[in-house]
Amino acid sequence: MIKVSAPGKIHLLGEHAVVYGKPALLTTVDLRVNVILSAAKDLSRMRDTSNKLKKVIEPIVKKYLKIQTIPPYQLNISSQIPIGSGLGSSAAVSASYIAALLSFLKVQWDLNLINDLTFEAEKVFHGNPSGGDNFTVCFGGLVWFRKSDQDRQIKPLNINISPKLSKNFCLINTGTPKESTKKMVENVKELSKKKPKLFKAFLQNQERLTKKMLSAIKKGNEDDLIRIIRTGEKNLESIGVVSPYAASIIKKIEKVGGAAKICGGGGKTKATGVLLAYHQDKKKLTEVAMSYNLPCYTITLGTEGLKQES
Ligand code: PMV
Repeated sequence: MIKVSAPGKIHLLGEHAVVYGKPALLTTVDLRVNVILSAAKDLSRMRDTSNKLKKVIEPIVKKYLKIQTIPPYQLNISSQIPIGSGLGSSAAVSASYIAALLSFLKVQWDLNLINDLTFEAEKVFHGNPSGGDNFTVCFGGLVWFRKSDQDRQIKPLNINISPKLSKNFCLINTGTPKESTKKMVENVKELSKKKPKLFKAFLQNQERLTKKMLSAIKKGNEDDLIRIIRTGEKNLESIGVVSPYAASIIKKIEKVGGAAKICGGGGKTKATGVLLAYHQDKKKLTEVAMSYNLPCYTITLGTEGLKQES
């Protein structure tokens, strides 16, 4: 029996701007996907729920290994990561399934290979992803990610988020957005053509803020962090990826002294996935979430990436 798990991830800042070559700062969260894979006598026991996923993952693995068939196996997937909420659920599921399948086929554990194959799966699910999600869930911790037409620059950062800051983050789940990330990325592209001046300012501001956020996180500077999240969120609002509903929750959090932002693609109509929220007194975040009848998770950031479970 092979057991593998992978964490979810969030964008601390830099989503959307990353599509245009600007940096993004990502990190893992302590919500995980668990995959158990074991040999089966025949194919009929393969559960239907996994079939869609199987149709994406198996061809990727077969192509890489240059094999025609895979011996029958049973797959069991359980996940704490809400789907379609900006938490990288698809990357975490794909990475752990690919890792388990490679182990089953006696391929040596290789994070770079699993990451590359997971990126292939992400392309099937999301069209033209930047690759930040799969890298973060595979390698874990804090990740500085930059994509340009010529090269991909990704590095795991060997630093931890200061404990003084990391204990004050929460995720408020506004639900799965009606619009897919792919659609939101297309909307932003249209805006970039219609309002080039506004869009240029957005890119410049997010780049500056993402760099500042890394420095605030290193130094444990809370005032700076709050200011950066608030300004980064305003910038995201300026490109139309924050619904009025999410904006109203965020405003309420700011009123009680905290800061919050959307994470990932966002949404236009109502739900925008999870909001990353920060407050010295986390009770205040729970109260705001409760006033909207929304779940609020206490999370640990920067947790371990993909791993084999015993
Ligand atoms: O919605 P998510 O968690 O898949 O994040 C999308 C982030 C974008 O920058 C909008 C797109 C990308 O591929 O980086």
